[in-house]
Amino acid sequence: MLMCLCQIKYYLKDKKYFQQKSKKMKKISNKVSKITGTLSVPADKSISHRSLLLSSIAKGTSYIHNLLEADDVINTSKALTELGVNVKKVSLGEWIVEGKQFFSTPKNILDMGNSGTGARLLLGLLCGESVKATITGDASLLSRPMKRITEPLSFNKEVQINSTEDKLPITVCGATNNFDLEYTLPVASAQLKSAILLSGIKRKSKTIIHEPIPCRDHTERMLKSMGADITITKEDNGNLITLHGGKELSSLDISIPSDISSAAFLIVAALIVPNSKITIKNVILNPYRTGILTALEMMHANIRITNKRVLSGEDVGDINVESSNLIGANMPKELAPSMIDEYPILAIAAAYAKGKTTLNGLSELKVKESNRFEAIINGLNQNGIKAVGLDNSIEIYGDDLNIPVGGSLIKTNLDHRIAMSFLIMGLNTLKPIEIDDDTAISTSFPNFCELMNSIGANIK
Ligand code: S3P
Repeated sequence: MLMCLCQIKYYLKDKKYFQQKSKKMKKISNKVSKITGTLSVPADKSISHRSLLLSSIAKGTSYIHNLLEADDVINTSKALTELGVNVKKVSLGEWIVEGKQFFSTPKNILDMGNSGTGARLLLGLLCGESVKATITGDASLLSRPMKRITEPLSFNKEVQINSTEDKLPITVCGATNNFDLEYTLPVASAQLKSAILLSGIKRKSKTIIHEPIPCRDHTERMLKSMGADITITKEDNGNLITLHGGKELSSLDISIPSDISSAAFLIVAALIVPNSKITIKNVILNPYRTGILTALEMMHANIRITNKRVLSGEDVGDINVESSNLIGANMPKELAPSMIDEYPILAIAAAYAKGKTTLNGLSELKVKESNRFEAIINGLNQNGIKAVGLDNSIEIYGDDLNIPVGGSLIKTNLDHRIAMSFLIMGLNTLKPIEIDDDTAISTSFPNFCELMNSIGANIK
């Protein structure tokens, strides 16, 4: 307890310093005549976190090519360094991790910044280690629900997890006892599924997860490639994942493809700005991530996938997009897990579609980096597009005949995807769209503005 109080004091001092350093910066996006070019977007965030975390407990040296060097992933690398793991950047995107048999107890609080994935996966991993550590984050992360993770992880009574109201900061004392866990996921959350799997890797026990609504499976794929005894089978209701822990993981040599969640901003930019044509290379096409492509196809988007192949165990391909006359569609809620991060930018596409688009199954949107359910509705209404929220759905009344008015100042509330979505909308509105704070963009897509401007955007 004493150690924790000291840590928190240190952290608050540290936090004040950081708050002084990072200043809010506005950005403004202006109407442009076209978006054109062939380019790559940054590496996949989900796979980047997992490659650092899993290689930290593997045997030997792991080589990671094209790691996403954005704030969220850098915070995961810093946390692992605090835990005594040797994580080294060799050159741009090229990283080496020396796996460690036992983590050291960290001297400082582990600050995961804005990252729910970083915080939740690390918490899971630490539950299976003999260390005591405290995890915290920025104002956005401190407000996000952690009970979904702490509850199943606390079934093992030798693991201690302390928090106030199930929010960060959380102090965890992990344990290495044998403990069989069987759990049915109450929400389609890859963070929850992965946290539970990570907690069971070292235990000579079984971790069984029933997954009624399957979602991104990067952890399962990576564990398999590292020699873990993990099987995924179909059961009556979804997937059954069985991990027999206690087997040493072999090291990784992985090339990380580009993130479809980042590519989605460019895809929609090309669709809504007339005379546009772009190719985004080497994008992850894992079937649990491509809901945005299905949704845009339903809206008659002109998108073609070429050069399909497999890279380090994941499907990848190039995405070719041309400006399109979009048509509104009623999106089935079953698509939600495979495009959960893409709703803000899909809502922008819907603003330019003919007729009504309904986005369904949006309950999880209310607990993301910000309440995206509200942010989408407010942002569209502020820019002259009618959007109505109904329970867990949003109806968007697109205007295919007139260019939306735009002209608003969007409050981003530390949410990178809200910030980038409305900057994309500003590329084709009568009046420019401004965001109040661009700092969160660097959590996932640090070169967003430069890259967009290089293909014809005008974001200042
Ligand atoms: C992620 C899972 C999703 C997603 C997040 C990344 C992951 O969160 O929104 O950006 O890498 O596991 P949930 O698990 O909360 O659905």
